[in-house]
Amino acid sequence: MTIKICVLPGDGIGPEIMEQALRVLDAVRGDGFDFVAEKALIGGCAVDATGTPYPEATSRLAKEADAILLGAVGGPQWDSLPREQRPERGLLAIRKELNLFANLRPAILYPELANASTLKPEVVSGLDILIVRELTGDIYFGQPRGIREENGERVGFNTMVYSESEIRRIGKVAFEAARKRGKKLCSVDKMNVLESTQLWRDVMIELSADYPDVELSHMLVDNAAMQLVRAPKQFDVMVTGNMFGDILSDEASMLTGSIGMLPSASLDANNKGLYEPSHGSAPDIAGKGVANPLATILSAAMMLRYTFNLDAQATRIETAVKKVLAAGYRTGDIYEAGTRRVGTKEMGDAVIASL
Ligand code: IPM
Ligand code: MG
Repeated sequence: MTIKICVLPGDGIGPEIMEQALRVLDAVRGDGFDFVAEKALIGGCAVDATGTPYPEATSRLAKEADAILLGAVGGPQWDSLPREQRPERGLLAIRKELNLFANLRPAILYPELANASTLKPEVVSGLDILIVRELTGDIYFGQPRGIREENGERVGFNTMVYSESEIRRIGKVAFEAARKRGKKLCSVDKMNVLESTQLWRDVMIELSADYPDVELSHMLVDNAAMQLVRAPKQFDVMVTGNMFGDILSDEASMLTGSIGMLPSASLDANNKGLYEPSHGSAPDIAGKGVANPLATILSAAMMLRYTFNLDAQATRIETAVKKVLAAGYRTGDIYEAGTRRVGTKEMGDAVIASL
């Protein structure tokens, strides 16, 4: 199978980490897997080149491709642009246009990195959570929105909205994922205050009738934020809306102490997906060759597994990453005394050597 990948390196460390992910993909070619990669612009680099963070040419390529691999977007030089031109808009636009409603964000603690967490090792050791975040609805996209004049002052407003069908389709993804893992699903809402999330809870309960083998529980988002640091191992799969998922997934990622290790997938109804590391563009270290490429490499593995069902190749990459960690290779973000500090390219080399 020859797959067509749309590659969007983006800004900051994006191009450096992407280069390593592509080298790793290159190294697992064969055994019925081949790919062609076509690059396009997104985010700040796209604004600089074309005036918009999600140019028409990128949109065309993304739609034609079988999957999309993205580095990172954003940087301080674009922060003062009008909202429509900010790099983040490019990300929101591609998610919406391609209907990538299901965002899977695993938070896994690699045993070798237990000391990287700010939490006690016994609280996080063995941590393996999957956050399923709805990605194309909620207050991120709800209308009306804006800032208007009212009684002589400015008033800012957004709309938190979910339809039954939007909740049901993300719920199904989460139940299916839980079924393949520990069979526990915790749905996170704020039903004590917000009607849209009362509907969220109602629909999750209705849906649970189709998944008798999965244990469904519910948690209010404030409590969930607290439980994630108090006793994170109580969770298997969590499912929540766009905004709560944005916040909780950052929190969950830091339990592992190494956001530089975590991949993510954003899928449509046919499992076409956009794969990207969970971390940002790290402008402070961009171009220095020190960024951790592992989250992007693991995102490429996730792509092989979720969009192409190439489990063997995906596992090969994931195993190579584990071996490299066990052998003591560390980029600066996960470095500790007694390990071997390497740069972006050396980390890529080490993964390729362990494949
Ligand atoms: C994320 C990011 C984005 C989001 C931003 C960059 C628009 O924080 O992917 O979590 O809020 O979804
Ligand atoms: Mg976020």
